Amino acid sequence: MEFSPEIFLNNIAQTTGSPYLIPIERAEGIYLYTPDGTRYTDLISGIGVSNGGHRHPTVVQAIKDQLDKHLHVMVFGEYIQSAPNLLAKKLTGLLPGRLNCVYFVNSGTEANEGALKLAKRYTGRSEIISCRKSYHGSTHGSLSVSGNEVKKQAFRPLLPDVRFIQFNQPEDLEQITTRTACVIMETIQGDAGVRIPSKEYMKALRKRCDLTGTLLILDEIQCGMGRTGTLFAFEQYGIAPDILTLAKAFGGGLPIGAFIADKEIMQCLSHDPMLGHITTFGGNPVCCASALATLQVIEDEKLLDAVEEKGRLIEKLLVHPDIREIRRIGLMFAIDFESAELVSRIVEAAKRGGIICYWFLSHPNSFRIAPPLTITHEQIKESCASILRAIDNA
Ligand SMILES: Cc1ncc(COP(=O)(O)O)c(C=O)c1O
Repeated sequence: MEFSPEIFLNNIAQTTGSPYLIPIERAEGIYLYTPDGTRYTDLISGIGVSNGGHRHPTVVQAIKDQLDKHLHVMVFGEYIQSAPNLLAKKLTGLLPGRLNCVYFVNSGTEANEGALKLAKRYTGRSEIISCRKSYHGSTHGSLSVSGNEVKKQAFRPLLPDVRFIQFNQPEDLEQITTRTACVIMETIQGDAGVRIPSKEYMKALRKRCDLTGTLLILDEIQCGMGRTGTLFAFEQYGIAPDILTLAKAFGGGLPIGAFIADKEIMQCLSHDPMLGHITTFGGNPVCCASALATLQVIEDEKLLDAVEEKGRLIEKLLVHPDIREIRRIGLMFAIDFESAELVSRIVEAAKRGGIICYWFLSHPNSFRIAPPLTITHEQIKESCASILRAIDNA
């Protein structure tokens, strides 16, 4: 019953015609275990979530400690609670000065919804600029600013006044004007197959936004929290956004997101209209305690220091004539092949060999690798050998 595929397939909503269907009983570090004890290596961190590994003891303890104090007590923005207070203080201390005020929400898409509303309200403008091939989430607003046309068609009409530019294409920046409320962009495009913009482009983007009074929203929901080797990917570009959005790995395995801005900007959600953006569970104390402990783990275990070196090791080991290209920043990889069919066969062969790699939403010719940052050199060597075997067997 507990792991019945019939219940899963019939009584739980399905999102594809071919779910992965691995029964998971427990998870620890980089490993997932089925009820019969089969072990899988999670090389995708549950899609960008378990950067500190599954069930990190510090995170689990922080969750337990909070459970013994209180769960939900009030909607966001009313009571003073210890966990969100400590998390906001810690997080803003790690960010540039102007990112000093945090709005906690429950997921990535919600963080982007809040950020878009904030930008429209603050600037009094309606135009939003986003990038082709971007992914910002699945609710109406985030879907409207996502670039994958195939995923959008069935759900129109979506948000009006959204314009798409080419990612990492400096000429397109001229389309940002004094009509534009905000540009929303993934610092590193994730589901487009790990697309890494140039430093010059990001600087020019920042400059153009400043010139036109447009707010820059950087979505670090997938690429943040140490994935690229710095806590936030934008740090590598010498710029900062006006609004930063976080989720996924932010919560260390519990659902929490955030959009972060200067207090002067954020303030406008509290008047005209009052309660301009509200959420019941945003800032849930258990999720905040988990997120705070996750930041502590990244810091205490100096996880960022080893990201680049581990990324290089994977790149060095993954040599195979069928691999067309590897795009990598830190421990965020897209491995390109000749066809989507071949990628599917490799992902399936890897699964049979106990390794979880996975597809991208908008780039079928690659699979992703984004392991927990805690992965060891030995585990990297074993995993890469298994991937190479999977490529051979596919
Ligand atoms: C860059 C980016 N933004 C937003 C989202 C949406 O996050 P969530 O699934 O938590 O709504 C994702 C999820 O994959 C993402 O990768």
